[in-house]
Amino acid sequence: MINRRLFLGSTLGAALAARARPAHASPASASDAPGWPPPVFQDDEAYWRTLRREFLIPADEAFFNTGTLGSEPRIVLQTVVDHMTQVDATIAHWDYKAGHPDYLTGYEPETEIRAKLAALVGADTEEIALTQNATVGMNYVANGLPLRPGDEVILTDQEHPGGRSGWDLRSKRYGIYVKNVHVPVPPQNPQQLIDLYVNATTPQTKVWAIPMLTSGLAIRFPVQEMCRIARERGIFTVIDAAQICGHIHVNLHEMGCDAFYSSPHKWLLAPKGNGFLYVRSQRLNGLWSTLASSNWDNYHDGAFRLMQIGTGNLSLLKGLDAAIEFHNRIGPDRVQARIFSLAERLRAGLKQIPQATIWSPQHPELTSATTVWALQGYNAVELMDGLWERSKVRCRAMGDPYGVRQCCHIYNSPEEVDRTLATARQMVLGRRG
Ligand SMILES: Cc1ncc(COP(=O)(O)O)c(C=O)c1O
Repeated sequence: MINRRLFLGSTLGAALAARARPAHASPASASDAPGWPPPVFQDDEAYWRTLRREFLIPADEAFFNTGTLGSEPRIVLQTVVDHMTQVDATIAHWDYKAGHPDYLTGYEPETEIRAKLAALVGADTEEIALTQNATVGMNYVANGLPLRPGDEVILTDQEHPGGRSGWDLRSKRYGIYVKNVHVPVPPQNPQQLIDLYVNATTPQTKVWAIPMLTSGLAIRFPVQEMCRIARERGIFTVIDAAQICGHIHVNLHEMGCDAFYSSPHKWLLAPKGNGFLYVRSQRLNGLWSTLASSNWDNYHDGAFRLMQIGTGNLSLLKGLDAAIEFHNRIGPDRVQARIFSLAERLRAGLKQIPQATIWSPQHPELTSATTVWALQGYNAVELMDGLWERSKVRCRAMGDPYGVRQCCHIYNSPEEVDRTLATARQMVLGRRG
């Protein structure tokens, strides 16, 4: 059970009382505890309003920037704080003998949480390495693949630095060739995106690095088909999925990619500083680690070799466990259906405003819960600030001419979407006046 007294930072007595509970106890086992999604799913507004109360964002603030960072449900945050408190209060009782609660991460395989992540994304436990974020995952792949000078890696001109920079570093230092394909904005259909990679491929191409959903303009790539084509040609596929986990439900074995990395502190609403890297079992042995500590050469436990980072923060993993549990209790498909429908509502409303332009794709296979849109008469920052100042709608400016990025998540509601649209209409009138 979660110890609320510790969370509230009360007495030393409370801290010591917590000793009775091992530091590794899973908060998720408290199935009837308050703070979890209602046990019976009901796809109605009452259900989602109940869930909204589990977030710390004030009721009058509409937060639409999950693509940068998610907001953790109360119980996820509380799990982290409780665990950290307990570790510090009871640390003298830790005798370091086998079988006693662990206070440390960075040296152990963390099999339980890897298994839970693996189940969420349709992978095997040994294919998952825990990382700090997507950027670390990208760097492990860019550094670790056995590439030679002149070998080509294809990626797009729409990459986030956390999907690109490791490749650029390797290019500058070791002479691989990074080829950036130009993505049309917005793309009209999936085939257009597939053709970009196919047409750029040469006999020297060894890697397709594909952003499953781009950060800037929310362009969704048809990754499953692209992985199939790449595999036929013996090309390694690595998917930048920073924007995916907790947003678009995936099954990695079905997708058929070789590597995939994500940042659960975005859409999975996990504590900040959580990430993971998946490497397909048949590809694992071919990937060198980038960082090394005691198990860097351990080929018996798959991707454990790729998480030799020294001491980390076990409490963040407890929070990740709780975030997965929270997500699973609603159901990944239900989360996706809900947030896609909010985004559809937004796009439908924007189409009714002649001064609004939607820059993110509108082909049904290329859309997501993220919409990028601009408003005539306002630059991106003015639009972002106008939405916030007029009606506490927080989007993120994406530069001109693209306007703002608006990510719909489970803490958003149809009313908040409608408020965005009403504010945009007012802003149009404001410019005219
Ligand atoms: C597509 C994409 N890749 C990589 C990253 C980097 O993520 P992180 O900073 O969590 O490593 C981001 C962050 O927004 C992103 O959107």
